[in-house]
Amino acid sequence: MAFDILIKGGTVATASDTFPADIGIKDGLVAAIGRDLSGAAETIDATGKLVLPGGIDSHVHLAEDKGPLIEMADDFTTGTRAAVLGGNTTVLPFSVQERGKSLREGLARAHDRAEGNAYTDVSFHLIVSDPTPQVLGQELPALVADGYTSFKVYMTYEGLKLNDGEILATMDVARRTGALMMVHCENEDAIRFLCDKFAAEDRLEPAAHDDARPLVVEREATHRAISLAEVVDVPLVIVHISNGAALEEIERARARGRKIVAETCPQYLMLSEADLEGMDWEGAKFVCSPPPRDKAEQENVWRGLARGAFDLFSSDHCPFRYRHEKGKLNPRGRTDFRHIPNGIPGIECRLPILFSEGVVKGRLSLNDFVALTATNHAKTYGLHPKKGTIAVGSDADIAIWDPTIRETIAHERLHDASDYTPYEGVEITGWPVTVLLRGTVMVRDRELVGRKGSGTYLPRALPFAAHRL
Ligand code: URP
Ligand code: ZN
Ligand code: ZN
Repeated sequence: MAFDILIKGGTVATASDTFPADIGIKDGLVAAIGRDLSGAAETIDATGKLVLPGGIDSHVHLAEDKGPLIEMADDFTTGTRAAVLGGNTTVLPFSVQERGKSLREGLARAHDRAEGNAYTDVSFHLIVSDPTPQVLGQELPALVADGYTSFKVYMTYEGLKLNDGEILATMDVARRTGALMMVHCENEDAIRFLCDKFAAEDRLEPAAHDDARPLVVEREATHRAISLAEVVDVPLVIVHISNGAALEEIERARARGRKIVAETCPQYLMLSEADLEGMDWEGAKFVCSPPPRDKAEQENVWRGLARGAFDLFSSDHCPFRYRHEKGKLNPRGRTDFRHIPNGIPGIECRLPILFSEGVVKGRLSLNDFVALTATNHAKTYGLHPKKGTIAVGSDADIAIWDPTIRETIAHERLHDASDYTPYEGVEITGWPVTVLLRGTVMVRDRELVGRKGSGTYLPRALPFAAHRL
């Protein structure tokens, strides 16, 4: 047989082209793309379907330690199960450095938790929380050489935040090694000031979270991160941009020749500050950082997507259970927004939401969709052309979509281990029905048929330093 699997009769779309073609798969790779291919052990009929690269979600949090009082809902099994059923074939979670510990200790834990448990391929970004001379001088460069070619720093969060000097020193490692630095941009001192002020006024409900992290704290930190990167002369990824003003900082910097990759997420299109005002502490379900903004900013993010200012559309999946002693309603969180864990689930709905709201509603082309959800992630993080496209020789990571399925999002039909979705009730058109990971059928007719542990770890090449994509 020429092929192990043949996908016949579908419409193939990449980041650049849309065309009718059959795809022949052999030994886990795309072996042929053409018309009237034949000779396969198995044929999948894709008539009337879209054949897209498997989604790559390059911003997810799985099985991170959150201390004794808080527990993340998803481990690698449940998180990647939800991911693959939502059309993804690769995810990039974080390996977190604990202060006072090495990066490798965090990595050993992350690998241990992922090993044998994933339904998608997995690679790790490093989170640097303690940039000691030893970490910056030896450990981090050695890890970059080992294939951990991206690392993130936070400008907020107690215990994780770096000061400007530490950020500069960490950026300098990115410059020296060619690795890519990601930044969460919010001004921690301003947030602390506002949190203390609201606490003194007894404003402790979930909606205060939004007011304690106003747009200006994100815009200022975005400007500062860009400026620091300019001092060091290094490219940057700005993650989870929630509004037009932060995006404009990036566009101004690009006009000066800075190389900046911009990411946004479904929450900034679909949720708003009004959601945090839900009765009976329901607003806790929507607490994430940066917080959802208002309708005008949702439109600004859509406009940014439409004019190509964003490179990446990721979920920032960071799931906690709502009704749970170690979740959103933990004993302290149910009376004080400052103790509601930050983050919301979204790994399974990311692609259907952008497809339905973006492509079906005519705001984005299908090729833009593929770029924003797969190809640009692979290019940004050193996985292209093995991942993120459909090309001869690439991994056969393929999501076959039925663009006509109509569905109302309901958590009972999703596959993560949280107990809610912030997108409950959203009407969707289009859903991935069959998903192949390196030529293995993982999802067939929306049912999980692949084996846990099919996903492997991916060491990564150095990213394209010269972004834009
Ligand atoms: O609220 C969020 N986004 N939680 C996840 C951690 C982060 O900041 O990305
Ligand atoms: Zn963040
Ligand atoms: Zn995140």
